[in-house]
Amino acid sequence: MVPELSESGQDGAVPDSLVVVSNREPYSHERGDDGEIRVQSAAGGLTSALDPVMRARGGTWVAWGSGDADMAVAEDGVVEVPPSDPAYELKRVPLSEAAVQGYYYGYANQVLWPLCHEDTGRMWAEPAYWEQYRAVNEQFAEAVDTVAEAGQPVWFQDYHLALAPGLVRERRPDATLLQFWHIPWPAPSVFRHCPHSDALLDGLLACDVVGFHTAAYAEQFLHCVDGAFPAATVDADGGTVIRNGGETRVVANPLGVDVEGVRDRARAADVAGVREAVLGDSDSDASIRLALGVERLDYSKGIPERIEALAHLWDRRPDLRGEFTYVQKASRTREGIAAYRRYRADVRDAVDRVNDRFGTDDWQPIVYTEAALDDGTLAGLYRAAEAAVVTPHRDGMNLVAHEYSAACVDGDGALVLSELAGAASYLDGALTVNPHDIAAIADAVEAALELDGAAARDRLERLRDSVEALDSADWVARQFSARC
Ligand code: G6P
Repeated sequence: MVPELSESGQDGAVPDSLVVVSNREPYSHERGDDGEIRVQSAAGGLTSALDPVMRARGGTWVAWGSGDADMAVAEDGVVEVPPSDPAYELKRVPLSEAAVQGYYYGYANQVLWPLCHEDTGRMWAEPAYWEQYRAVNEQFAEAVDTVAEAGQPVWFQDYHLALAPGLVRERRPDATLLQFWHIPWPAPSVFRHCPHSDALLDGLLACDVVGFHTAAYAEQFLHCVDGAFPAATVDADGGTVIRNGGETRVVANPLGVDVEGVRDRARAADVAGVREAVLGDSDSDASIRLALGVERLDYSKGIPERIEALAHLWDRRPDLRGEFTYVQKASRTREGIAAYRRYRADVRDAVDRVNDRFGTDDWQPIVYTEAALDDGTLAGLYRAAEAAVVTPHRDGMNLVAHEYSAACVDGDGALVLSELAGAASYLDGALTVNPHDIAAIADAVEAALELDGAAARDRLERLRDSVEALDSADWVARQFSARC
């Protein structure tokens, strides 16, 4: 078994300062319609875990400067952040329109994303995508070379940056390089579909440490390496690869959330106000029970199956009509790709169909919103919901499952969780389901609504213990403790 780093890492292992490299930037500058430039901070697990460390330790974060006023406020592409209380530098990499199309919408999101989510039918590998992916990874490597000080470790994040570690290694043979792959790693039989599989592995193996959320992904990665490079020494149990004289440690290092932060926001939330704001007129009856789904409109998230499952439930349990409402918070995403635009349309159609079929004058079965919700409102919604339904086909981890579990500060709440999400390997107490099994999802939502008494308390207790054990504060220290 690949070593699973679920124990706390050694704080001493975290370097005094570091370079983080990711596609998305932690802060962007956008020009509003009034001409004023405003700062936006990024939501999401990666930023929430790394921004506090960068604030405390200092260093440079290298990322795509995607905000329309990003370069106007930077000097040589560099800006001090957080803008309100500068603690570290953000080096923005400017990408041309062709680079964004080929690298981001193309290779990252039409080759690597479907590949790693084992949905190869959606892969589309235009030659220009690979060329742009390579060129942009080169641009990132150059930016790293400009900013990294001697001895500063460089930590690459996610599937956008598989080649950059190899390109930095060529320039800096002695640097400490790390990667964390936030999405699943596919089985070797699936990875073979990728026309550039060896080059991707080669880039990643330039790192001293490569991290994944689960031991299963780490093992699949090691098996891919073993198959691709017969001359490499792969120790699948110890989680090491020796190749071309270098050694890479491959580890399972699960990322969680800032549990106390989520709890504080949940405790502070005005739950009744949030219900009213999100549910609006459809919430005429404050006693209506709620279940909740929160996701980007990504085809890996299993939203249509879930909506179909809810229709099954209202069909066979008419007593739940008018009693129970499902809230779907959805965010628009990657709309430069036709599959994402279609998915959004399909989800919206499915919601309309169910609402037309079961809705009444004073009850709307599904409340669907694409409104941007701040963290406090989201925490209030978590608290208001008796159940969260998280049923992706595949998901690296799924931090919504963690956040919901942490936000159940009233001592009630149940989690329906896909057994194919990374979180299912860690969150004890969830009601797990196969995300394609519509009848099983319906049963699990029903069971979540009926959970009561000691059984409910026991499940929630176990969920809370599980999310606490993976608090995001330890994740960085664990990754650095894994260095050889
Ligand atoms: C996933 C990826 C992240 C990415 C996020 C949002 O969680 O692992 O790297 O940032 O999706 O997607 P986007 O394409 O908007 O960055």
